[in-house]
Amino acid sequence: MAGDLQKPAFGLDRPTWLRLADTVDLIVHPAALVNHALPYDEMFGTNVAGTAELIRLAMTRRLKAFTYISTFAVVSSQSSTADEDADIRLSSPVRRLDQSYANGYITSKWAGEVLLREAHEQCGLPVVVLRPGMIMAHRRYAGQLNVPDVFTRLLISVVVTCTAPRSFYRSRGAHYDGLPVDFLAEAVVALGQRKADGYHTFNALNPHDDGISLDVVIDWLIEARCAIERIDDYKEWFTRLETAVRVLPQRQRQHSLLPLLHAYAEPQEAVGGLGLPPSDRVRAAVREARTGVSGGIPPFSFPDPKVCRRSASAGSDRDGGSGRRPRPHPGTRRRPPMTWRRLPACGRPPNVGAGEDVGAREEL
Ligand SMILES: NC(=O)c1ccc[n+]([C@@H]2O[C@H](COP(=O)([O-])OP(=O)(O)OC[C@H]3O[C@@H](n4cnc5c(N)ncnc54)[C@H](OP(=O)(O)O)[C@@H]3O)[C@@H](O)[C@H]2O)c1
Repeated sequence: MAGDLQKPAFGLDRPTWLRLADTVDLIVHPAALVNHALPYDEMFGTNVAGTAELIRLAMTRRLKAFTYISTFAVVSSQSSTADEDADIRLSSPVRRLDQSYANGYITSKWAGEVLLREAHEQCGLPVVVLRPGMIMAHRRYAGQLNVPDVFTRLLISVVVTCTAPRSFYRSRGAHYDGLPVDFLAEAVVALGQRKADGYHTFNALNPHDDGISLDVVIDWLIEARCAIERIDDYKEWFTRLETAVRVLPQRQRQHSLLPLLHAYAEPQEAVGGLGLPPSDRVRAAVREARTGVSGGIPPFSFPDPKVCRRSASAGSDRDGGSGRRPRPHPGTRRRPPMTWRRLPACGRPPNVGAGEDVGAREEL
């Protein structure tokens, strides 16, 4: 059933709302406007008021357990602590609205956590908060990408402009914090199966100290025969990138890093896997629930290009192993998936997002 978080009762009629209030026992809330360019005001309706409305549903007729997909950025930005036992209202009582990267989005996710803490304290709402870092593609549906996310935008921009910096980092030892969506979905299921009481927060970061960083991802692209020139001077690379993406045809430009360029204006601090807060709790919860087959927090890896090619030629929306076509959710439109095969060769206009909905709500 489709509903709009921005509308009272999600735009549902009263009998439907009451039926949900009576029959639902667990609310899993991943829906959000995920946009790193818009200000807080624009995120408020969906991410804050929408979460408040879901809390209202959770407390109507009977208490329902509530799982909220937050983001680790809530505690990695501004002054806060990654301590999973800390009360966000105390550890981060005030947030600054400014021009920093993804400030509006992160503030709206923080506000969602604050609302849930209040609802728990005042009404005993059972809450689980999951705080992932970057959510990466599913491991089985090789080649299918989250087109508007900052990682995909970066890769598209590097491939289209045929340039990358020698390194994205100020020093050695960097590690990219990303976990595949299938593992995180397993974690959500595992956490939802636990006894519904209390307030529990779980950081879900990639803890492997494996040296797999954005620089390694560029190596993988080069190995996959993308013609990418590495430029020693970071500023020179950034200037070339900016100039090149600004003059891309509109359709490619909208999938590029352009609206988020400032995030890459400077090389990043290198943080190794051991430098991240531990994710032992989520690992233990998944192991205990035995919900999936992952056998622990997976490392970030590059799918075998042969598998990508096979799944792309079999029809990229098919399961590469079984050939079965995953069913779309009722009421959703099928979008053409983005595949490695459709990434452009250097110098050719990229065929990204062809036929894709580029409506006003698309992430920048
Ligand atoms: N992507 C990441 O790396 C990342 C990292 C950390 C945390 N997260 C969190 O993980 C969750 C999912 O992120 P994602 O990247 O998968 O986002 P996404 O692809 O943009 O999906 C967001 C979902 O929210 C729905 N939605 C947006 N506005 C809505 C509204 N007004 N009413 C009802 N539904 C609405 C969208 O519905 P439609 O499909 O109909 O548009 C979509 O299904 C979010 O809560 C995000 O904050 C994401």
